[in-house]
Amino acid sequence: MKIALSGYGRMGHLIERFALKKGDEVISTIDPAAPRAQFKYINAASLKGVDVVIDFSAPAAAVENIKNCAEAGKNIVMGTTGWYKKKETVQKIVEEAGIGFIWSGNFSTGVNLFFKIVKDASALFNLFTDYDPFIHEYHHNKKADSPSGTASMLGDIVLNEMERKKEKVTESLKRVIRPDELHISSTRGGSIPGTHIVTFDSPVDTIELKHTARGREGFASGALAAAMWIKSRKGFFSIDDMMKDIIEGV
Ligand SMILES: NC(=O)c1ccc[n+]([C@@H]2O[C@H](COP(=O)([O-])OP(=O)(O)OC[C@H]3O[C@@H](n4cnc5c(N)ncnc54)[C@H](OP(=O)(O)O)[C@@H]3O)[C@@H](O)[C@H]2O)c1
Repeated sequence: MKIALSGYGRMGHLIERFALKKGDEVISTIDPAAPRAQFKYINAASLKGVDVVIDFSAPAAAVENIKNCAEAGKNIVMGTTGWYKKKETVQKIVEEAGIGFIWSGNFSTGVNLFFKIVKDASALFNLFTDYDPFIHEYHHNKKADSPSGTASMLGDIVLNEMERKKEKVTESLKRVIRPDELHISSTRGGSIPGTHIVTFDSPVDTIELKHTARGREGFASGALAAAMWIKSRKGFFSIDDMMKDIIEGV
């Protein structure tokens, strides 16, 4: 597979390393700021001979990058976050150009499997009303926000599957939690790359589901798996479509 990397920062470099290890070729690196990038802009010249563009750039650049790739007729893996309010516009661009597009706020295969496990577990615990769910996440002391986007997505999964839970609460509570609230708590400290725990607790026992990332490598290998998947497809897809395709296709 011949890849262009749009955004040659931390993720761009990591994906390049993984791609080379897998035997893929990175034939173009595009970044207006990174000194070692081959090109500054996405255009016909920087995308010549490319099968898939993998974009991990900046939220403000995402939609323009998608437009430029669509104009060049290139399929895209969109790892950049922060453009989701423009999803409809992006879908239109993708469909009009007849390209393939896959997006996710978290391309880690392990996290996406964890989402599926939490979804199935929540559906099960929905039937057993003794069990009360809650979520906790840990991240390093440089993380700028809380809760993590992944914890928030886990919360949405639990809310969707468990009828007795209606609302996420993420602040520290100075009152008793309501039975229809789902508490998501966060700890910041040290160098932890990211740990998420979903707990189902009853008066007699506790069941914990836990995902522990060892670093950012899971994002890179997941983005490359998505590039392989989207390479020969046309249409607007999310990682959920890809996971469903793989799981149901087995
Ligand atoms: N979906 C996932 O699984 C996942 C995982 C990790 C990160 N992310 C997201 O991926 C994005 C990048 O993360 P990162 O950690 O690699 O950030 P980073 O180290 O800051 O790298 C991003 C690079 O893209 C550059 N850039 C800015 N505008 C661009 C444009 N128009 N075209 C091409 N490159 C451009 C940036 O330049 P400047 O420094 O000058 O802005 C920077 O060099 C963020 O949105 C992050 O949230 C997603």
